[in-house]
Formats: sequence, C-alpha cells, structure tokens
Amino acid sequence: MISIKSEKEIELMREAGIIMSKTFKYLEGYLKAGITTKEIDKLAHDFIIKEGGYPECLGFEGYPASICTSVNDTVVHGIPNNRKLKNGDIITLDIVVNYKGYNADAAWTYAIGDVNPRKQYLMEHTEKALYEGIKQVKPGNKIGDISNAVEQYAIKHNLGVIRELCGHGIGSDMHEDPDVPNFGKPNTGPTLKEGMVICIEPMLTSGKRNIYIMDDDWTINTVDGLPAAHYEHTILVTKDGYEILTPRSE
Ligand code: MF3
Ligand code: CO
Repeated sequence: MISIKSEKEIELMREAGIIMSKTFKYLEGYLKAGITTKEIDKLAHDFIIKEGGYPECLGFEGYPASICTSVNDTVVHGIPNNRKLKNGDIITLDIVVNYKGYNADAAWTYAIGDVNPRKQYLMEHTEKALYEGIKQVKPGNKIGDISNAVEQYAIKHNLGVIRELCGHGIGSDMHEDPDVPNFGKPNTGPTLKEGMVICIEPMLTSGKRNIYIMDDDWTINTVDGLPAAHYEHTILVTKDGYEILTPRSE
C-alpha cells in the first residue's frame, strides 16, 4: 500500500530533510585524506542527535553504525571502520534522519582529493541520472517513468545499472511501498499521486553491473572491483510536480 502523507507528516519529513542538509554540509568539512570512516560516523551521529534527530540506520535490522560509508568499489551499506580515506578515493555517505517519527533518506558520493577521470565521470553522471529521474515526478506519471529515465541516462553514458537494489517509499518507516527501480519501462508501475514520498537513488558502476555481499552481511561491492557511485534524494509528489525534501544545504 502506498501511503499519502498528511500536511503534518510532510512537515516532519521536511524538518528531517533540513537536519539532513545540515549534516551533509557539516560532514563535508571533514572529508579529507587521513580521516577514518568510523570518525565520520561518530561526527554524523553526534551532529544528528544535537539537531534533535535520530540516525535511523543505527540498529536498523541490526546495522551496527549510524550511517553507511561506502568507499570506491563498495556500492552501498559500507560499515564505518578504521580505514583511513586516501587521496583519490571516492566515498558515498548514505544517511537516514528520523525526526519525531518521520524519516528523510539521502546519499551523496564525494571525491577525496584528486580522483581519476573515470571516477569523476562516474560521479558526474550518476548525480545527473538522479536528477533525470526526479524530473519525471508529477501526479499521473508512473514509477516506470522514473526508472526508465534513470536507466536510459545511464546506458547513454555507458554506466552499469545495479538491478538488485532500488529506491523506495518512505515515511514513518525507512522503507515503504513502492519500490523505485533504476531500470524499467515508461508508463508502467504504480501511478504517482500528490502526497506520496519516494526515495530515488541511482546506484551506477564504472564497469559491469554485478555485485556481491561481503561476509559481514552488509557491505555490497562490485564484482569487477571497479568503482560505484550513489546519489539519493527524498522526493515529495506535489500538486504539479515535486519537492526535494533533502535539499543540498541552505
Ligand atoms: N539509505 C539506505 C537504504 O535505503 C539506508 C540503509 S540503512 C542500513 O537502504 F541500516 F540498512 F544500512
Ligand atoms: Co534509501
């Protein structure tokens, strides 16, 4: 069942999104060679709590940290650890902020120092694929319109589209209906209606689209070891289009 959010629920999700934007802005100041992903996790945890939110990943299905930190060939769900970031790495921060029972979910991939052209290209076009998907959001359009826009953009730019992972509805639960795949046919799937809130999150690779899950049962990597990028926004369907509930800083 796809829920339609009330004005009050939307206001709480907007508030969660504002905390999210501040959190990303704060963390961006620390994303330099030498910092460990565990240190970033601690900074994120304390900042979100200070802002009156809760880092929803912490304890979610047993997840052991406050955010996901996915480096290079890790696609998603990288668990923060004592690895130090190096010049040339890329890192995705994937964060869910709960504010008074309602969630916002966003992810962004960052370069540490100077990254090679392949990584630069991957990041640029994965971010653009996200906005291609977002442009499809308006009442009457279908989930498949979003999926297809992301997929076509990725194919055109020769990037691998991960199929096992997808976007999702969001609200009082981090993951709600509907699924929002990054591939599919136009004019298929559930119809978007005013008041729905969905997360669109292309996960694209420099090489093949195949992934595997590591022994920790969380970390998901590319099989070919080539880098992956991941950009995500929480999007409200409005009367005549969309509102990004997780804006990029003020
Ligand atoms: N944004 C991620 C997702 O939608 C958050 C996962 S939190 C974790 O899957 F706890 F599951 F890692
Ligand atoms: Co998500």
